Amino acid sequence: MAKVIAVTNQKGGVGKTTVSAHISFALQEAGHSVLHVDLDGQGHSSIYISGDKAINSRKGGAERIFDRLEGLRGDATPCGVDLLHGHLDLGKLDEGEKTSADALALRDYVKSLPYDYIVIDTPPALQLRQFAAMIWADVLLVVVEPEEKALRGFMKVKEVVELLKSKGLLAADYKWRILFNKVDGRIAEQQKVVDGFMESYKGIVIPVPLAERKALINKAYSARVPVWKFKDTPKDLGGIWRGLPSLLGVL
Ligand SMILES: Nc1ncnc2c1ncn2[C@@H]1O[C@H](COP(=O)(O)OP(=O)(O)OP(=O)(O)O)[C@@H](O)[C@H]1O
Ligand SMILES: [Mg+2]
Repeated sequence: MAKVIAVTNQKGGVGKTTVSAHISFALQEAGHSVLHVDLDGQGHSSIYISGDKAINSRKGGAERIFDRLEGLRGDATPCGVDLLHGHLDLGKLDEGEKTSADALALRDYVKSLPYDYIVIDTPPALQLRQFAAMIWADVLLVVVEPEEKALRGFMKVKEVVELLKSKGLLAADYKWRILFNKVDGRIAEQQKVVDGFMESYKGIVIPVPLAERKALINKAYSARVPVWKFKDTPKDLGGIWRGLPSLLGVL
């Protein structure tokens, strides 16, 4: 049975794509078979993983999972992660007639796909694609930034997680985790937010926040390599990103 890791938050730009791609890279490098499912029409994690800039203009990606295709595998990519890519047509899934109950009916199918891990990147909207990823997840990872607006978004995600849970739609033994990204430890306000969360959500907040490193993260993305393989990356920083699966408790 594949272990499913869903990376979510309805807030845009917090780092879902960057984090999900790095979890896939790290699990693959650790010798596991990985399917990356990009449910976001922007296809940014698909571009990162496949190196194909135009991939989000082609259909035949992540929607295949909703079609319950027999023998489904992702497409092989040069980095070794298999991919069900994101593309602009995926928005139709949210506009169609599929419901959370349909997503629930697909959970066993998703978990039976022939991979050790399935990592799902989601679009920044609390609609079917994000609900489906939550419903399929063994580990539901909410990426947040330490600023007020992002935290308000987090509260909405939390409400949805609690609602799905109360309706019996989440996996029985699912775990949820909160990961702070883009943290500047020199800014006292940010540190205060992180510390407050560590206190309120003990055991749920990942104790190592990811530092704000815009230039480096963007250069690694442009070079289509994980941040730890990028030449300018300090070893300790690369080690934190590479260690995300361990920090999540899935390795
Ligand atoms: N730790 C970081 N430090 C600085 N910049 C970062 C960091 N992580 C991600 N970014 C940058 O922030 C931007 C948004 O990141 P990303 O696309 O991963 O977010 P997202 O949550 O997937 O966005 P969307 O909601 O649009 O899908 C990107 O330019 C990315 O390179
Ligand atoms: Mg994204």
